[in-house]
Amino acid sequence: MQPLLRWIGGKQKVSALIGDLIRLNLNEGGRYVEPFLGGASVFLRLGHGFSLLGDSNPVLINFYECLQLDSMALMVAYSDLLAHSKSFQSEKDAFLQVRQEFNLSSKSGFESAAKFLYLNRTCFNGIWRVNRKGEFSTPFGARRAGNWPIDFWRDLGERFQQSILRCADYTAVVASAAEGDLVYLDPPYVGVESESFVRYGPRPFDRNDLCLLKDAVQGLADRNVLFCLSLNCSAVALEDYKDFKIDEVANGSGFVGLQKRARGMDLLIRNF
Ligand SMILES: C[S@@+](CC[C@H](N)C(=O)[O-])C[C@H]1O[C@@H](n2cnc3c(N)ncnc32)[C@H](O)[C@@H]1O
Repeated sequence: MQPLLRWIGGKQKVSALIGDLIRLNLNEGGRYVEPFLGGASVFLRLGHGFSLLGDSNPVLINFYECLQLDSMALMVAYSDLLAHSKSFQSEKDAFLQVRQEFNLSSKSGFESAAKFLYLNRTCFNGIWRVNRKGEFSTPFGARRAGNWPIDFWRDLGERFQQSILRCADYTAVVASAAEGDLVYLDPPYVGVESESFVRYGPRPFDRNDLCLLKDAVQGLADRNVLFCLSLNCSAVALEDYKDFKIDEVANGSGFVGLQKRARGMDLLIRNF
C-alpha cells in the first residue's frame, strides 16, 4: 500500500525489498517496531498488524492517530478543505491561507490533520520545515493536493488498527522493544549536503545522535531483539557496525555488492 504523505528520506523505492526481508524474519505473533516512522512506507508495505510506531514529530503522529481513530472523518475533513481551497484565486493563495490557519491552530484533531495532509501534498518537495517559532514554513510547491477513493482511506485506516502510536524520541520506543520483536530504524540522514534531509524539526540529527543511536542499536542486539537499520553510506558507519551484517542498497534497484560503492547508497545493517 502506497503512503499518503510525501516524506523526505522516505523509503518507498526500497520498501518492497526491506518489507520482504522483515516479513521473512518477523514471527507472526511478534511485534513490528518502527521508531522513525516518517511517511510509513515500510510499515504500509509490510502489512503486519501488531506494531509499535513512533516519531518525534507531534503533527505527524496526530495525523496517524486520526487515521487510526476514524479514517472516514479524516477523509471528510480533507475533502471539505479541498472544496474550500477551490474558492481561492490561485492554488498558491489557497496554500498560503491553509498554512496560516494551520500555524494558528492547536495542531491536534481532524481539521489540523487534514490541513497537514493538504500542506504536505502541495508544499515544496513535501518537506516538513519549521521556523524558530515552530511554524511550518515550507513554501508552495506548485503541486495539486490530490484525492483518493473512499476504499483507499478505509484500507489505510485499517492498517493502523492494531498499532500503538507514540509521539516520542526513538530511544523510548527502542527501549521498550523485547525479544520476539523486530525493529526497523530509519533515522534522518547525517552529513548530507542538503539540510532539508537532516532537519525534520527544530534540531537536526547530528553526529552525536549517531553515537547514541549506535548504543541503542547495540542494546537491541544485546537483548536478542532483531533489528534492521538504514543509514547513509559512510566509512564511520561501516566501521561502527562492522560486527553486523551490512548490505548496500541502491535506492530503487536493490542490493549491490559492497565492492560497488557509489554516491547516494544506503546501508542496510542487521543482526539477522
Ligand atoms: C528518514 S525519516 C523516516 C522515513 C520513513 N522510513 C519513510 O519511509 O517515510 C526520519 C524520521 O525520523 C523522525 N525523527 C527525527 N529525530 C527523531 C528522534 N530523535 N526520535 C524519533 N523520531 C525522530 C523525523 O520526524 C522523520 O519522520
